Amino acid sequence: MNLILMGLPGAGKGTQAEKIVEKYDIPHISTGDMFRSAIKEGTELGKEAKSYMDEGALVPDEVTIGIVRERLSKPDCEKGFLLDGFPRTLDQAEALENLLGDLETSLDHVLHINVPQSKLVERLTGRRVCPECGATYHEQFNPPQTPGKCDHDGASLIQREDDQPETVKNRLEVNLEQAQPLLDFYKGKGYLVTVEGDRDIHDVFTDIDQLLQRLS
Ligand code: AP5
Ligand code: ZN
Repeated sequence: MNLILMGLPGAGKGTQAEKIVEKYDIPHISTGDMFRSAIKEGTELGKEAKSYMDEGALVPDEVTIGIVRERLSKPDCEKGFLLDGFPRTLDQAEALENLLGDLETSLDHVLHINVPQSKLVERLTGRRVCPECGATYHEQFNPPQTPGKCDHDGASLIQREDDQPETVKNRLEVNLEQAQPLLDFYKGKGYLVTVEGDRDIHDVFTDIDQLLQRLS
């Protein structure tokens, strides 16, 4: 199954992606995670991406499209994939259409997680992540068993640099501007399905799971 997970920052894409890829056994392709790994490794790509991410701005399309092209061309994507956080602009969406055409495949569904904007700031500023395994928590909505420690490996949880209140504001503005044209693009192609994301994490997943089973 070839899927895209869309939603504003903090909508729960990463949280739901973890569950979807586990159940459907497809690779999770998150451009945000790929950029964060590159930053950690200190590569040229990481240096370039960091300057944009720290501001809450989008990394330029040509850079982002390039890394997705490379990733989707890997053999493990032949069984399907879940794109998380890509595409985020119309140019990226069009590039993806071409890329999938080159790979002789196409999309199945675009899952849009809809959460009212007013809820997103508290979700982002309360998020804590594990620097070792990438697991995501929330101080209030999804706390770890031991405060401040990852359930999987006991590592001390940290706050993402772009989850500082001022950067969060910029990220939401930038993404809001791009969101509607993208949703219209995929609606026009008949791929779009919307899931109500302002509910318990498990209820959101149950809905996604039922939708995918019904649609497949
Ligand atoms: P990226 O890492 O993709 O960030 P994002 O889109 O801003 O999304 P987030 O990861 O912040 O949120 P999410 O929807 O995954 O929410 P999560 O599940 O963690 O991108 C980072 C940056 O990289 C961008 O700003 C940009 O610079 C660059 N970039 C990435 N892709 C790009 C592209 N295609 N083009 C250009 N630049 C790009 O949940 C958030 C919190 O809420 C967590 O604490 C979680 O525990 C909690 N939570 C989740 N679900 C629920 C629920 N149902 N109820 C209550 N709390 C919940
Ligand atoms: Zn961990």
